[in-house]
Parts: sequence; structure tokens; C-alpha cells
Amino acid sequence: MKNLTTVPTTPFDGQKPGTSGLRKKTVEFMQPDYLNSFTQATFNAIGGLAGKTLVLGGDGRYFNAAAAQVILKMAAANGLQKMIVGQNALLSTPAASNLIRKYQADGGIILSASHNPGGPDEDFGMKFNTANGGPAPESVTERIYSETRSLTAYRILQSPDVDLSALGTRTMGDMEIAIIDPVSDYHALMHQLFDFDAIRGLIAGGFTLAIDAMHAVTGPYARAIIETDLGAPTGTIRNAVPLADFGGGHPDPNPVWAKDLMTILFAAGAPDFGAAMDGDGDRNMILGAATYVTPSDSLAVLAANAHLVPGYAAGLAGIARSMPTSRAADRVAEKLAIECYETPTGWKFFGNLLDAGRATLCGEESAGTGSDHVREKDGLWAILLWLNIIAVRQQSVAQIMTDHWTEYGRNYYSRHDYEGVDAAQAHAMISEMRDRLDSLPGTGVEGMTVQSADDFCYTDPIDGSEAANQGVRIVFDGGSRIVYRLSGTGTVGATLRVYLERYENDPALLHEEPQRALQSIIKAAETLAHIQKFTARNAPDVRT
Ligand code: G1P
Ligand code: ZN
Repeated sequence: MKNLTTVPTTPFDGQKPGTSGLRKKTVEFMQPDYLNSFTQATFNAIGGLAGKTLVLGGDGRYFNAAAAQVILKMAAANGLQKMIVGQNALLSTPAASNLIRKYQADGGIILSASHNPGGPDEDFGMKFNTANGGPAPESVTERIYSETRSLTAYRILQSPDVDLSALGTRTMGDMEIAIIDPVSDYHALMHQLFDFDAIRGLIAGGFTLAIDAMHAVTGPYARAIIETDLGAPTGTIRNAVPLADFGGGHPDPNPVWAKDLMTILFAAGAPDFGAAMDGDGDRNMILGAATYVTPSDSLAVLAANAHLVPGYAAGLAGIARSMPTSRAADRVAEKLAIECYETPTGWKFFGNLLDAGRATLCGEESAGTGSDHVREKDGLWAILLWLNIIAVRQQSVAQIMTDHWTEYGRNYYSRHDYEGVDAAQAHAMISEMRDRLDSLPGTGVEGMTVQSADDFCYTDPIDGSEAANQGVRIVFDGGSRIVYRLSGTGTVGATLRVYLERYENDPALLHEEPQRALQSIIKAAETLAHIQKFTARNAPDVRT
């Protein structure tokens, strides 16, 4: 190939993919050869690119467009046959997953640091998805990491940038580049799953919505589907224009970072429904007028009602939830007489269950819900599923929640995050807990008795692979539970996550304020782990 250069390089430290790809400060990613080396390591780890097709896109954050150009030139130099790229290098994570599956690509590269802020002083990320459309499993990410440790050179084509703003087919060296509309294939997939007429009727009947795209990638998707197709008034989608720095915000759909939307939904005259999505469109937050639905409850409600929606009318094969996610979904699974799988944190652990047809719906407490329609969690899908269910049930979000808790009981739930704490101290706290696990069962804490205590180890039921040390969990008599784990997506210090849960089925006690309802569990979490001592904080930074 003409203009192909092989550039010598030496390994960079720390190019180890975490819970969801490689995530670093943008400046670290932008240093000479850093992106190039990680990209070459990825290509090597999947056995080269000759004759393959990949999908490429990102959430539009700072460095997205420039990184896409580098990846294109390197893919061409590595012999890729075809790259399918979203126009302007944009693709939401679920849309990328759909494209990989629909066009039977060999995988895809998604440029995103998800819900982390973007900009020159913020975060950037890159993740590789495999041919099933899902995040690379640990076997692949380990190979990528190992390639980064021994890399001596990368290949790149000396070529001008490709204009990614115009749809159509281009070539670069011997590689074909198909620049496609990022929205249309995803939009078509949603039509296969949902009753658009029913949702259109709901909205035409005066049901009001406020959707916050947080200046991230979902703006164009939500506008096309919810405003143009489903007929919601223009302006229903707020912050709909993707910006490189997300307008200075933190594109994480939770009550803290989507505060403006919370204010709207909790004010007088609030719309009937509110929702927000994150940077790359895989997370969601669901709200009703004066109602916040915790992600764990959302999974349970969706599972209990999915049969009302065309795409799931045949029922669910099973449900899967990450271990720290509340056990509300387990109660639904029990009633439906289907399996509920408990997996480690991170969407990649759902892939095998979905591929094997063992699970239909999946969810994580971190605002992630999805199904077997793609191999990623999917924010807009969750919104449409809620809307379709509301259109059938003709009830408010608050009424649906009350009915659900009355039928199944309520799993009060909260996650407390201590962000950017000293990494050595955070690890010390977890390891001290681990050392004491065996002595805890039978002991009393804050009036409760510890029933079991362990460090979660998962054996994948499909391929038998094991993932150890996935979170310390303490279960009390009566089903209350505390989980401690360290984040695998942070870029500064360590983030300690403490997950708190208590089950209640007394009809008189189903509408408490969660932090109040969890008071004794919160105290027990401190008593058991000495969080304040190890984090040097007297309160969490974020409570969701
Ligand atoms: C966090 C969430 C996890 C989610 C991941 C990627 O990972 O807790 O559920 O899959 O982001 O969105 P963590 O930072 O906890 O490792
Ligand atoms: Zn995300």
C-alpha cells in the first residue's frame, strides 16, 4: 500500500481497559502516540484486520473527531476492508451495538467516556465491542492490555482527513468507508419493538414529557423518534445539541447531575414523564410528576410489564442484574417463574446470557437497562419501553410504582459514592473487610444480625469463566444488604461505592424517603467498614 508508515513506539503504562474500555484524562489520550498505540494493540489483540468490517463512532466529546481520523488511517494501514462510520463520527453506544449486529461486522470501536465530563481537562475513552455487538469480554480486554505492554510499532496511512460530514461511500487506501446516518438504523429497530401508534396516541391525548439529552449524543436520536415520529412538541428534548464539553455539564442522568430536570419534574404543573440519558446514550433516568424511579425499580417494573409491549409479548426468557443492583427484579422473576441471574458490575457480563437466550432483560443500579435487542444498555429504548407500558396501562408513573410495591413489596435502595479518595486507603478498607468476612456471620450490627458475608465471585454459566473480587457483600437477616466495591471507571484516585438495600412489604411503609428508610443500614455500613476513617470524608459525594 502506498503511503503506509510503520512508526516505532514504546509501551505506555496503564493502558488497561476497566469496567468499560480505556478511560483516561483527555490530555493523556492526546499525548503523541498514546491513542495510536492503544489502537494498534486493539487491532493486534483481535488477530489483525485483514478482510474485516468494523463500526466506528463516538459520543461527540472533545477529541472525538480527531481520534476517529487517526483510527481510520490506522485501520486502512492494517488492512481493514470496510469501516462503517456514523456521520460526523457520532454514534450512541446502543446504536453502534445495533450496527455491528445488523451489518454483521466483526466488531466496533466506540469513542466515549460515557457519563464522565468531556473537554480538554476532562475525560476521554475508547472501547472495543465484539461481533455480537457487546463490550469485549475480559479475555479480549486482557489480550489488548497485554499487547499494549509489548507493542513496538504501529501502522498508519499518510492520508488527508476524510470528510465525515457527508453521507456516502469513500475510500482510504484500499479501505472502504461507509458514512451513514447514525439515527436511521436504530430508529428502525425501535419500530420493531414498540407500538408507535399507541405512544403517539398517548402523546396526542395530552400526556406531557421533558427529556434531557444533556448536550450529549442522544439529542438527534430523541428528536427524530420522540418529537418528529411520536409527535411530542418541539422542545420536548432539552439540551438536544451534542457539544464537545456537554455544555460544561456532567452527562450523567441521576438526580445530582440532571438537577434541572429534577426541578422541573418536582415543580407545580410538572410534565407527566421525565427522562435523561448519558454521554453515549446507554444510561437512563426515569421520572414521573413528583416521582423518581430508582434504576433497580425500573428494571423490576419493566420486567413485570414487558409482555404488554409487542417486542416482548412472548414473555421473558430470564432477567439478569448486576450484583449490587437491588433484588426487586428477583421478586418479579420469581412470580414469572423465570431465572434471575446475578452478574458482576459491567454490561460485558450480560453478553453470554443474552447470546445464549437465557436472559431477555438486563439492568444495573447505575441507570442501565437493556434487552436482547442489542448487546449494550440502551437509554432511549428504556424511555420508549416505559412510554409504551404507560400507553397500555393508562396510569401515571407514580401509580405504576405504587401498584408495583403493593404487589411485590419495596426494595428501598441507595448508592453512596465517595469520589476521588486516596486509592491506597480505599484498597486498604476493602482488604480489611475481606480479612474479616469469615468472622461476621452471626454478629449483630445496629440491631441486625449478619446472615452471610463474602466477596462476590462469579462463574459464567455459559463459558465457565470466573471473575473474582467483584464486591464485598454483607447480607442481614430479613434480606437487608450492604455491598462495598471500588469503581473500575474512575480516572482520579479511587471511587468507593457503597450500595444499601432494605426490603419492606408493610403496606403502610411503602412511601418513606429512601435515606430515612435506610438509616440503620447506612449506620451499619459505617460501623462495619470505618468508611470515614479510610476516606477522610464525613459524607458521600453523591447519593443516588
Ligand atoms: C460504573 C457502574 C457500572 C456500569 C459502568 C459503565 O462502573 O457502576 O454499573 O456498568 O459504570 O457504565 P464502576 O465505576 O462502578 O466500575
Ligand atoms: Zn454510558
